[in-house]
This record gives sequence, structure tokens and C-alpha cells, in this order.
Amino acid sequence: MSRAIDLQRRKQAVPDDFDLVARSYDRLVRRNPGYIEHLRLSADRLAIADRGRGARLLDLCCGTGLSTEALVRAYPEAEIVGLDASSGMLALARSKPALSQATFVLGDASDPAAADIGGPFDGVLMAYGIRNLPEPDVALGRISNLLKPGAPICFHEYSVKGNPRAVAIWTGVAWAVIIPNGLVTARHTRIFRYLWRSVLDFDSPSQFDARLRRAGFVDRYTLPVPGWQRGIVHSFLARRPR
Ligand SMILES: C[S@@+](CC[C@H](N)C(=O)[O-])C[C@H]1O[C@@H](n2cnc3c(N)ncnc32)[C@H](O)[C@@H]1O
Repeated sequence: MSRAIDLQRRKQAVPDDFDLVARSYDRLVRRNPGYIEHLRLSADRLAIADRGRGARLLDLCCGTGLSTEALVRAYPEAEIVGLDASSGMLALARSKPALSQATFVLGDASDPAAADIGGPFDGVLMAYGIRNLPEPDVALGRISNLLKPGAPICFHEYSVKGNPRAVAIWTGVAWAVIIPNGLVTARHTRIFRYLWRSVLDFDSPSQFDARLRRAGFVDRYTLPVPGWQRGIVHSFLARRPR
């Protein structure tokens, strides 16, 4: 099986693999310096793009709700819906008292409207999600349709292609820290090995910007995060046209 076909096949299994590591997920990612702060930065950037007015927000691929927490912090008054395809990750999100204002729905981010999430939304955050979808262009069209005209979206995502320094740091951290930690903490490495490979395979920042342009998004800009993930993780901001 070619590497590209294998990666596509793995993407279908990502939510099931997250079920296997759900209970260790928060512990693992909190060991990553900046993980929470960077999610907050992207949620704050979404709120700034929206001038903080959003009344209904969607957190696509919300996982255990760490990105939802960042949204709650940026939009204390908003109604927030989190969608994820892993029931194990969602169970943890639902158990967090700090997220009692949010509603969590099981569904596929490739076709979010097929789940019972309502809409349209004043803003969408998708943190570490778009890279995992087998057909991102199809999904982007559907996600755009969930936004009100002129509403912003923020993709918080790894993008290292075309940057040799970022590729080298990412590969070193993945094999020296993330995969061994996954083995010790969650007793699994498949999802973490997939993480390493899927990040290397994902669009460069300019390729992802072009993908967003082709999907019809406007007012696009890419912002870095500080710390060791500078050049590795980015906030990709855009808007549905008015
Ligand atoms: C790395 S976690 C990110 C969770 C959260 N956004 C955060 O920042 O901590 C990726 C999440 O995407 C979910 N996911 C992957 N593919 C999906 C799909 N097709 N539809 C919905 N959720 C998906 C996984 O189940 C997992 O919970």
C-alpha cells in the first residue's frame, strides 16, 4: 500500500484511535509548553476578528473540550456547540463543570450539518481538525455554509511543509517526546505516529491559504504562535464572504 493511500485510510480511523487515548489526552497535551496558551491565542484572535460579538459559536473537532475552554474564555456569554466524532473524547468534554454552558454533539466534521448542531454560527474554531479530514476541500465548502455571511473562522493547525527548520524540530519533538510520552501515558503510539506523519504531509501555510481561497474564504491571514511551536503551529483566520 502506498504511503499516501495508507495515510488516507488512517484518517478514517482517527476518531476511534482518539477513543483509545481519551482518558490520557489532557494529561499528555498539558505537558506541551504552550498548548493551552496557543489555543487561547487562536480563540482570542477569532473573537477579535468577530469583535467579540458572537452569540453562537462552533468548536469543530472539540475533543475533550480544551479548545472549547479557550472559546468559553474568549466569549463568556456565548452559546457554544462542540462537535467531535470520538465518543470517548466527548464524554470527557461533557464531564467538565467549566464547560457546562457548552453543548457537545457526536458527529463528523467532514459533514457537520448532518449532526444536530443547528446554525448558522457567528464564528467557528477548528483546532487540530482540518488536517485529519480525508477530503478537506469538500469539508471546507460545508463548513463555510455553517457560518453567517461575514462571520470569521479560525483554523488552529500544524503546518511545517516548506520550512526545513520547522520540519526538523517537529520530527525531533515527535520522536523524542510525543511518541514516547504517548507510550508511557496512554499505552498507545499509533495515533501519535500518525500525528507526526500527518503533520509532515499537511499543506504548507501558503498551500492552506490557497485551499481556503479556493473554498471561497476572504480576509485570510496567517498568524504565528510564540515559543517552540513558532513556525510549526499557526492561526489561520478567514471569513465567509458577506
Ligand atoms: C488533536 S484532537 C484536538 C481536540 C481539541 N480541538 C484540542 O485542541 O484539544 C483532534 C480531535 O479531532 C477529532 N476528529 C478527527 N477526525 C474527525 C472527524 N472526521 N470528525 C469529527 N472529529 C474528528 C478527534 O476525535 C479528536 O478529538
